[in-house]
Amino acid sequence: MKLGTITLDVPFFQAALSGYSDQAMRLLAMEHGAPLVFSGLMLDKSVLYPAVLREPLYAVSDREHPIGGQLLGSDPDTMAKAAKMLSESDYDLIDLNFACPAPKVTQKQRGGFLLTDPKRAIEIIRRVRPAVRCPLLVKLRIGYDRSEESLENFWRICEQAVVEGVDGLVIHGRTVDQKYRSRADWSVISRVKSAFPRTTVVGSGDVFSAEDVVERLTEYDVDGVLIARGAIGNPWLFREARALITGRAKPPPPSLTEQGRLMMRHFDLILKQYPTTKATFFFRKFCVYYCRRHPQRKKAQMALITAANVEDVRSAIEHWYNL
Ligand SMILES: Cc1cc2nc3c(=O)[nH]c(=O)nc-3n(C[C@H](O)[C@H](O)[C@H](O)COP(=O)(O)O)c2cc1C
Repeated sequence: MKLGTITLDVPFFQAALSGYSDQAMRLLAMEHGAPLVFSGLMLDKSVLYPAVLREPLYAVSDREHPIGGQLLGSDPDTMAKAAKMLSESDYDLIDLNFACPAPKVTQKQRGGFLLTDPKRAIEIIRRVRPAVRCPLLVKLRIGYDRSEESLENFWRICEQAVVEGVDGLVIHGRTVDQKYRSRADWSVISRVKSAFPRTTVVGSGDVFSAEDVVERLTEYDVDGVLIARGAIGNPWLFREARALITGRAKPPPPSLTEQGRLMMRHFDLILKQYPTTKATFFFRKFCVYYCRRHPQRKKAQMALITAANVEDVRSAIEHWYNL
């Protein structure tokens, strides 16, 4: 899959996942076969302060290229300045967020709000495109809501994004007001690809297994698939998808011991980046997802999320994962 000057050897990548896709998650995703990863979204104004790019959620190591950075904002001028800063940093690719449904974001006329203001959205793209030399993507949902006006805005933004020369459209098949409810509508994503056959179109929504990746690529004729919630606590999804896409058999699921070893490594990576108390809390979010594979899921989850310090977390992993 081509994203401007960057070519991925498999047609999927790890999504921007605010509050999750820090360096630890990204490294594990890459080690398991993700060809591209994203950090969580960054506010344009913050990117203008170089210290922000050294924070654990955004700092980039040598082992995680190519990596994309995603920008959130509403002022075309600030977005262009931030994009320029980001393109001159360690990031290889930039994505503009016109998708986030969180009220604290939309109330400030950022993220998904921009689907109600196509003029401003298009102006942002127009200002950002010439400001950066790296590949530029736009991430958007299929409208703010299901109204006809909203659908028109969506198509207008897609069309102008193509005219302005973006290197890819990443489309989440839900409206902003749907948030994460009901199923993503991949038929709209597929229609975007038919309308703009020469533009790279990446679809997003409800991709939780390697089979989902293959099904979306074949049924909806998109160029690529975004792996989002499906990747949290499940980096094995990347190696499974890679195997199926390259015509190999799907590897067997990770054994309990392999899961435990990986969790231990994930925790160690987190401990290197955050103070211990913060690290222990932060790791809990991932444990909820890791434990989904556990035969005694509820008990293992409870033990891990109530572990109060580093030693307790380590012994809970050792106990529940037979290490
Ligand atoms: C916890 C969480 C954080 C997310 N953070 C971002 C983000 O920072 N930027 C973004 O474009 N999308 C973000 N998303 C949306 C995902 O990238 C993706 O488009 C969406 O979850 C649909 O895919 P899925 O149903 O396969 O999870 C986030 C989703 C979740 C659940």
